[in-house]
Amino acid sequence: MRILLGVSGGIAAYKAVLLLRLLREQGHAVRVIPTRAALEFVGAPTFEALSGEPVSTEVFDDVPGVQHVSLGQHADLVIVAPATADLMARAAAGLADDLLTTTLLAARCPVVLAPAMHTEMWDHPATRANVATLRERGVHVIEPASGRLTGADTGPGRLPDPEDIAREALSLVDGPPAENLDLAGRRVVVSAGGTREAIDPVRFIGNRSSGRQGVALAQAAAARGADVTLVAANLAQDVTDQVLAGPRACSVVQVESTTELRDAVRAVGAEADVVVMAAAVADFRPAVTPDAKIKKVPGQGPAPIELVENPDILAEIAHDRLRPGQVVVGFAAETGDAGGSVLEHGRAKARRKGADLIAVNAVGSGRGFGTESNEVTILDGAGDVVGLASGTKREVADALWDAVAKLLP
Ligand code: CTP
Repeated sequence: MRILLGVSGGIAAYKAVLLLRLLREQGHAVRVIPTRAALEFVGAPTFEALSGEPVSTEVFDDVPGVQHVSLGQHADLVIVAPATADLMARAAAGLADDLLTTTLLAARCPVVLAPAMHTEMWDHPATRANVATLRERGVHVIEPASGRLTGADTGPGRLPDPEDIAREALSLVDGPPAENLDLAGRRVVVSAGGTREAIDPVRFIGNRSSGRQGVALAQAAAARGADVTLVAANLAQDVTDQVLAGPRACSVVQVESTTELRDAVRAVGAEADVVVMAAAVADFRPAVTPDAKIKKVPGQGPAPIELVENPDILAEIAHDRLRPGQVVVGFAAETGDAGGSVLEHGRAKARRKGADLIAVNAVGSGRGFGTESNEVTILDGAGDVVGLASGTKREVADALWDAVAKLLP
């Protein structure tokens, strides 16, 4: 795995040296990005010798390599240990005033912060608010340990042991420890992304789904031992890269339209123990798709596009059960409106679709689509709440698989 180890300026920076050595011993490639203040505590040669990679703090080093974005773009995991109150404030505000903070903005992989500071600073409302903001954005902020601090004082704020940081951080990429193989021998199909319905050869009706939650579900199931097929509808490029670079491979079937998605899910679903419909499926498609681009006729106004209804793939599969005992799971992306709250719409959808589980999430206004974190209420087919999950999309995925595992024979 390619890991970036950020180190900010606190006395616990010496423990980052131990963490670096541990990660290298486990076979990971590690590049250290200290802040200027961190180098007051530990010298760059120490990090360079143990990582075997150059160390810089500034965005103006190696400008041709555009490393202020390239480092974050190519990492599988970013760990910042220790993360000082100042580093978290800068990260929460989205500042980009050194190589570490620019890297945090460019990274699309899991980001783990291991805070270390005095208890008063950890408890200060400013730090609490910054931690809450970062967690809301999907950053995994480890709880500091309690114990002896720099001086004679004790309390929460101590950097956890390097072994604990490494275990918690790596589990975000690898999933839970290998002994949790509760889906071993199970075949699972997950649809992800959003369908596109062609209007003509160059235009389509689409939606904002990035596919992140579906991919997190596929990777979580694979990490728990399942044999996973991901039916991927137009995933964002960085999400596709993540699937292909994942620690355990999933089979991937690429589709574009609802018709293709339906055919693919039904084909692989015939052998599956679990089908999860996480894709955002277009409810309608253009009735006809001409072979040539539709031309604008000046002065005539737009030609209307006649739409026809798409099949409801989830409802069909829930009804047909392609295999005896198959568990069928759907999502309900809701905004809530005058007709009902997010949960009320979710309940109605659960009853209507006939699936075993429905994960209801609130979308719109920056929530749900394209974000790193998610919050879902898990309902059974009758619309009763059987679980709640919030956190990174991977954490939500694991909570959903916990609910699925209870239903498997
Ligand atoms: N779904 C499906 N086929 C469709 C539409 C939706 O399989 N034609 C699935 C989605 O993958 C998701 C669930 O049904 O698991 C709910 O999708 P959503 O878009 O929230 O619901 P709709 O059925 O489209 O209902 P509405 O548009 O009224 O909210």
